Amino acid sequence: MPKQSVVVKLGTWRGIQGSLLLLGFLCILILVATFSKFYSFRSLLIVDTSCNREIYTHQSQTRTPIQAKETLEIVIQKMQREIEELQRNSSLLNYNSFLEDILGDIQSVRESFPDIQEINETDHYLQSKQQSYDNPEDHFLIEEIRKYVKMKPNRLGKQNFMGANGTFTSIGHGCFAMKKELEEYMEYDVGEICNDDWKLAQKLMVHGCDPLPRRRCFSIAPKLYSRPFPINESLWKLPDDRNVRWSHYRCKNFACLANNSTRKGFFKCANCFDLEHHEFPRWIRRENPDPRSNLSEDFLAREVIDLKPGEIRIGLDFSIGTGTFAARMREFNVTIVTATINFGAPFSEMIALRGLVPLYLTINQRLPFFDNTLDLIHTTRFLDGWIDFVLLDFILYDWDRVLRPGGLLWIDSFFCDKEDLNDYLESFKMLRYKKHKWVVVPKLDKDDSEVFFSALLEKPPRPFR
Ligand SMILES: *[C@@H]1O[C@H](CO)[C@@H](O)[C@H](O)[C@H]1NC(C)=O
Ligand SMILES: *[C@@H]1O[C@H](CO)[C@@H](O)[C@H](O)[C@H]1NC(C)=O
Ligand SMILES: *[C@@H]1O[C@H](CO)[C@@H](O)[C@H](O)[C@H]1NC(C)=O
Ligand SMILES: *[C@@H]1O[C@H](CO)[C@@H](O)[C@H](O)[C@H]1NC(C)=O
Ligand SMILES: *[C@@H]1O[C@H](CO)[C@@H](O)[C@H](O)[C@H]1NC(C)=O
Ligand SMILES: *[C@@H]1O[C@H](CO)[C@@H](O)[C@H](O)[C@H]1NC(C)=O
Ligand SMILES: *[C@@H]1O[C@H](CO)[C@@H](O)[C@H](O)[C@H]1NC(C)=O
Ligand SMILES: *[C@@H]1O[C@H](CO)[C@@H](O)[C@H](O)[C@H]1NC(C)=O
Repeated sequence: MPKQSVVVKLGTWRGIQGSLLLLGFLCILILVATFSKFYSFRSLLIVDTSCNREIYTHQSQTRTPIQAKETLEIVIQKMQREIEELQRNSSLLNYNSFLEDILGDIQSVRESFPDIQEINETDHYLQSKQQSYDNPEDHFLIEEIRKYVKMKPNRLGKQNFMGANGTFTSIGHGCFAMKKELEEYMEYDVGEICNDDWKLAQKLMVHGCDPLPRRRCFSIAPKLYSRPFPINESLWKLPDDRNVRWSHYRCKNFACLANNSTRKGFFKCANCFDLEHHEFPRWIRRENPDPRSNLSEDFLAREVIDLKPGEIRIGLDFSIGTGTFAARMREFNVTIVTATINFGAPFSEMIALRGLVPLYLTINQRLPFFDNTLDLIHTTRFLDGWIDFVLLDFILYDWDRVLRPGGLLWIDSFFCDKEDLNDYLESFKMLRYKKHKWVVVPKLDKDDSEVFFSALLEKPPRPFR
């Protein structure tokens, strides 16, 4: 809470000039005095639309918020004058930032008061003009969220080196629908250890609160972190359990995830912690071709790389897994980053402990790569028959954007119902890529109703217009 952080800051500034200290205390007094009133006032306001007018009328007769707002105005003006004066004396710069910090706190309290005029004119505070997405902080009561989403003007009113007047820290629009969860996530003491709430964070992200706000608390870490294995060992060996926080998983160690009989891992990836038996042969050995056609949905890494000798150097794997594709490609001197979330198992930690790069990314987000940059995109077990066609379209266009001309898109064992196959194939054909491989084989385990589709496609050059 800001109250506490201000007190802490004051403590470190003991021994500074008396007048400034006095000013600081004045602020805190006002903060404390207004906080209680403002919260009760606000909580009354945000209720059913029907009774809002009544409650507001009642409240306005007490005039508390109006008076408090005026007082805040005066304090803010005084502090701004003081800050301006201090700016001329360079020996007091630290002071100045301290004052500006408190000023920020007070301003955010002032802005959290609803605009009296606006409320009078509208039925519901949340529908008033104030509540536009221009001022996202108006939607939240928790101070840390408000502070985070507020545009931060550059100091001294100048443009920064990127040509912007300020910094715009954004959050996903899903955050507005998940206000309660977000407020729980952002309820912490600045400078302390955060709650062990990675799962809440992931839930927020998956449901569209993505990007999440940053936080000013220290994330929990494993108690004992042993040295990771050297890279010549780490790629194909289960990491040390102690290097992972196991809260909120059904398994509490890697052996459990790898165990065939416990089946506590994520169902889509039941075997992917079994590095030795299940993962190691992938993309170097062809297993079980379809007996009728002698075709397999599995392509080999060697045959893909040999399509473009020496050209495939960097890429992205958008899959469910433990990074085995990146490990395999590393042996061919190709650098792959693996997009993943920790769904049911600590995939990010596992990939990192293998010595590979995990990219913690949901499917909601535009890829954090620039246009025409990657040599290869590989995907498996991810975009299966569940995905909406429009979403698939947006994703494919985004992949196309980041793939360079001549880059390869490797659709690996996409599966869906037989009836849906043609619709999905149309989506992939829409890209108008050169087809190096294009295979459809029946999926044998499910009474022949599902099929696998694999393809190796090349992005054509697009001459600049
Ligand atoms: C700057 O502040 C210091 C400490 O308060 C004071 O001694 C000094 O005279 C000030 N300088 C100017 C130019 O105001
Ligand atoms: C609210 O509206 C009424 C009439 O519409 C007006 O008399 C009153 O002054 C307004 N209150 C404020 C605080 O603006
Ligand atoms: C940025 O600041 C400059 C100079 O103060 C101003 O002309 C410009 O309109 C500002 N741009 C935005 C987007 O606010
Ligand atoms: C890994 O490399 C280190 C030194 O580079 C070597 O001492 C060690 O024996 C190697 N381990 C394996 C399993 O090859
Ligand atoms: C796998 O799980 C079973 C049943 O829980 C257990 O009996 C077995 O010892 C486990 N194996 C390993 C290698 O942990
Ligand atoms: C896992 O179970 C399957 C059959 O359920 C078996 O074929 C396979 O060998 C087992 N793997 C290990 C590592 O025990
Ligand atoms: C199946 O295809 C592989 C190469 O893809 C070939 O080596 C093998 O002989 C074929 N088997 C049959 C029965 O045609
Ligand atoms: C990878 O690079 C190393 C060092 O440049 C080289 O010795 C090795 O042959 C390369 N491996 C492949 C599969 O190209």
